[in-house]
Amino acid sequence: MKKTIVYIETLGCQMNVADTERAWTNLREAGYERSDSAAIADVVIFNSCSIRERAAHKAFTRIGEIRKQRRGREPLIGMMGCVAQLEGEALFDYAPNLSFVAGTRATDRLPDLIARAQAGESGTIDLGERREGESWTVSPFERHSAHVAFVPIIEGCNKFCTYCIVPYSRGRERSRDAAEILRDIATLREKGFREVHLIGQNVNSYRSASTGDLAAYPGATPFSKLLRAVALTGIERIKFTTSFPRDFHADIVSAIEEHENLCNWVHLPVQSGSDKVLRLMRRGHSVKNYLERVERIKISKRQCSLTSDIIVGFPGETNADFEDTLKLVEQCQYDGLYIFKYSVRSGTPAAGFSESVPEEVKTERLQRLEVAQKNNQRHIYQSYIGRKVSVLVEGESSKSLKDMRGHSTCHKVVNFPSSPHVIGQVMNVQITEAKVNSLYGRII
Ligand code: SAH
Ligand code: SF4
Ligand code: F3S
Repeated sequence: MKKTIVYIETLGCQMNVADTERAWTNLREAGYERSDSAAIADVVIFNSCSIRERAAHKAFTRIGEIRKQRRGREPLIGMMGCVAQLEGEALFDYAPNLSFVAGTRATDRLPDLIARAQAGESGTIDLGERREGESWTVSPFERHSAHVAFVPIIEGCNKFCTYCIVPYSRGRERSRDAAEILRDIATLREKGFREVHLIGQNVNSYRSASTGDLAAYPGATPFSKLLRAVALTGIERIKFTTSFPRDFHADIVSAIEEHENLCNWVHLPVQSGSDKVLRLMRRGHSVKNYLERVERIKISKRQCSLTSDIIVGFPGETNADFEDTLKLVEQCQYDGLYIFKYSVRSGTPAAGFSESVPEEVKTERLQRLEVAQKNNQRHIYQSYIGRKVSVLVEGESSKSLKDMRGHSTCHKVVNFPSSPHVIGQVMNVQITEAKVNSLYGRII
């Protein structure tokens, strides 16, 4: 019998990428065939994101586009991920051509959902929890890269920042078993992966599922114990994201200082530079607490890069609050910054806040912040000229056929002249030129 061909398009964050990889692993085991093109697939699935309104909208736009493209030979269409979890049954009304819906913990049951939809069942839906003992193991063939692997260590979120949908779409925090994480990383190393990213909404809120596994490792928190344990697996490069400021213990920086393979990059989203706004956001940290953590990173004997996320135009954000954010950005001198306009997410506490900031004010603040960041970044990137960085070569440069590209341990994009035979290798590159968002150099 001809195998059913499935295409999955991932629209969300690294967690969604990791879920898609797990979905592929299960689907292949169940006898489905993978396609990387929607044009020939029997089943098309969108792995959706709901973090901002525009992201959530994207899944619906894509469903429309696929239907148009495939008119006359329409595939079965399914939705998984955060929009699926949040909207549930209602999706069948918004998108009448949708055949099945799989919530964020139903990834393992996709084969069954597809089979039921194929058999003609209508309104097939699963918003249930993970099954006890569910395997997180991903086949190396289904990874998004042959060199860099995402390893979820914790999922969900208990923080309930007032603007954010994630606690509702991903449920409560659940940490994975440390022994299983360490086993996965040892396997990845054997299979030739050079770099792992430990991922989670808040990686540093990690609490080992079984306490015994990490007892032998030093560390002030379960996460810093895990970092040291992962470092000792000998995998070449380890990055981790995202770190939640309130749970960012100084011992994380100590671990980075002790182990060369723990990469010198911390992503520590601050969201705002105003204590009033931080309180309204219910972030659980003040500007002062945050700056103390930043200080520990900045005085590290390994030069660590620091990146962050900021939301502009949160309800009640005044000009003075925004000036405080600008001030904080100057103080932190970020190596990179993601700036977002506040987007109302229905069901979150902030959706009920008054004093919303007009769209044009949000735009103006976003632009001002971008200019400030660009200026700082220019100086920071220029300071790399003449320095040597270690780059994992991930592929060809998007701009020039003669150049290869990869990331440094400090997570900067680095381009340099070479040929595809170095893809997958770690190269030492001397920086000769700095652009706004990337570095350029030559192999030494
Ligand atoms: N757990 C991470 C963030 C994950 S979401 C943390 O707490 O830092 C990624 C980013 O999206 C957030 O850092 C925030 O800047 C942004 N974001 C989340 N909800 C948003 C909203 N409603 N509007 C605009 N940006 C939002
Ligand atoms: Fe959202 Fe806050 Fe949780 Fe991050 S910590 S995922 S911003 S609720
Ligand atoms: Fe989006 Fe869900 Fe990730 S809302 S950012 S895909 S956790």
